[in-house]
Amino acid sequence: MHPTNPTAHTDARSPAIVAHGIRKHYGHVEALRGASLSVGLGEIVALVGDNGAGKSTLMKVMCGAVAPDAGEVVLGGGLRVEAGRFNAADAGVGVVYQDLALAPHLSVLENIYLGHESLMPGRPRWLGLLDRRAMAGEAEAALRRLGIALPTVEVPVSLLSGGQRQAVAIARAVKWARSVVLLDEPTASLGTRQADIVVELIRNVARQGLGVLLISHDMDRLKRVADRIVVMRRGAVAAEFPAASVTLAQIVEAMLGGVSTVGAAA
Ligand SMILES: Nc1ncnc2c1ncn2[C@@H]1O[C@H](COP(=O)(O)OP(=O)(O)OP(=O)(O)O)[C@@H](O)[C@H]1O
Ligand SMILES: [Mg+2]
Repeated sequence: MHPTNPTAHTDARSPAIVAHGIRKHYGHVEALRGASLSVGLGEIVALVGDNGAGKSTLMKVMCGAVAPDAGEVVLGGGLRVEAGRFNAADAGVGVVYQDLALAPHLSVLENIYLGHESLMPGRPRWLGLLDRRAMAGEAEAALRRLGIALPTVEVPVSLLSGGQRQAVAIARAVKWARSVVLLDEPTASLGTRQADIVVELIRNVARQGLGVLLISHDMDRLKRVADRIVVMRRGAVAAEFPAASVTLAQIVEAMLGGVSTVGAAA
């Protein structure tokens, strides 16, 4: 046992989420072959890799949407992420999927609150009436923080542009997150201005003390926003770099897996 050291917490970040030895196959495809990854509280980890490297599958395992064949995922508080018995939203894990997973026929407001419907104060629970006005105000505030102006949160998501949908998905994830936010290509369909806004938002999320796992192919923005860059290749983590000092060439080499294993994690 060590005596209490008030500066000890600065040596290493406390984990927000840890994935260990994750394996997953789909038929004959080995999507994940023992992938391990951790994200600290307040840390932004960028997950990169070629198409099909397993990034999205790993993220889905980390939020309990997909059950792995082997390995485990544990949140900082010790809660185990188990597909089918774990609800990411209830556990304070915010998720933005690559395909967004919004309900197009529902409004922006309903999408932000999907699975989180507040009950009208003072009404019997069984009535299930929603406090729509308060919810609308909160949803508008969440979108405003993203710098996204929508005419109304009552508009169906099917009528929004790709960038606006992306903003709604991110606002929803960030609004409910308490420990970590997992984002799969959140800037993929955005223009330069909106992508920069999203990057700034991600910074703010980390400043609030949440861990952020960010999957993206946008190397320039990743290098600007991430603390650490984790490279996946063929279902496993091939290398890990501090974002501040790594070069684009090193990242690409690790992604494609040349003869050498420059920068490969021990
Ligand atoms: N539901 C599924 N059914 C069958 N195969 C799948 C499924 N999901 C993923 N795969 C396969 O698993 C591998 C990893 O896919 P994954 O989507 O995790 O890659 P990725 O790194 O996110 O790629 P990208 O950069 O293109 O998004 C691929 O070969 C893919 O075809
Ligand atoms: Mg993907």
